[in-house]
Amino acid sequence: MNYISIQNIDSLDKWVKSALKIKKNPLKNKKLGKDKTLGMLFFNPSLRTRLSTQKAALNLGMNVMVMNFTNEGWTLEFEDGTIMNQGASEHIREAAEVVSQYCDIIAIRSFAGLIDKEKDNAEMVLSGFLKFATVPIVNMESAVGHPLQSLADAITMEEFKTPHRPKVVLSWAPHPRALPQAVANSFVEMMQKQENMDFVITHPEGYELNPEITKNSKIEYDQNKAFENADFVYVKNWSNYNEYGAVTNMDPNWTVTAEKMALTNNGKFMHCLPVRRNVIVADEVIDSENSIVIQQAHNRTYSAQLVLQKILKKI
Ligand code: CP
Repeated sequence: MNYISIQNIDSLDKWVKSALKIKKNPLKNKKLGKDKTLGMLFFNPSLRTRLSTQKAALNLGMNVMVMNFTNEGWTLEFEDGTIMNQGASEHIREAAEVVSQYCDIIAIRSFAGLIDKEKDNAEMVLSGFLKFATVPIVNMESAVGHPLQSLADAITMEEFKTPHRPKVVLSWAPHPRALPQAVANSFVEMMQKQENMDFVITHPEGYELNPEITKNSKIEYDQNKAFENADFVYVKNWSNYNEYGAVTNMDPNWTVTAEKMALTNNGKFMHCLPVRRNVIVADEVIDSENSIVIQQAHNRTYSAQLVLQKILKKI
């Protein structure tokens, strides 16, 4: 079993309930991972993913090895048949098979390069490991998805669930740098699995996500209108998908302020973190009682623990 995408979740409802059970007694399966090793390979920085996944593995009694591949590993070649007389020192074929000998599960973080849309959509690094590794693979944020994050988001929304059918808004917000679409993509895919929630995406015109992912999810270009009566407001920046990787809008009017949150139904503010204060969200919102970003980050442990637990039971 691999955990690559939200589509690997057969029943979101059951997975969320299982994760909440784990949260109540996280050391219950302390023996499950005995003598098993999780290898965590990072091609990009991380705070939450690294520590929460490591914590999850430790809760299951696993050993953990972490490698910052970009600084510490050999530069990898992913194409077949290349004459390797340039920068790359090692081919993914050997690297993935060798790491598989040391680890029982390999978790990988490798972001989109945001230069070549086709290459990013092909998930070069993740696909390379999937093809040549001989052990299960976990996606710790790839070019197009961050399924551990959106599973944690689903767990968090369940904890703060409303007595009525909630309205959930995914809102774009400005950011000075080009960021990938991965978090937003997986959030959309997770929301499409929610049967009892109303979902709307809001962003400036031109900032549409990949239509193969958003499918028939509702899009509202007026952020204020989208926020009306929302119970959860999930905020995230992503760079332009059409003008691939470009930052074509930095309109501060999209920053989430208390005035905008006042349009909601006493809505909860969500963000995967890290977040740029007073660019994405005003201090007054992220510091308010309605901000549940710390709870989201906490649930990263239980989302990772559920995934590792499911894999360990199969190996
Ligand atoms: N949300 C998230 O993935 O955080 P990190 O980038 O710090 O891991």
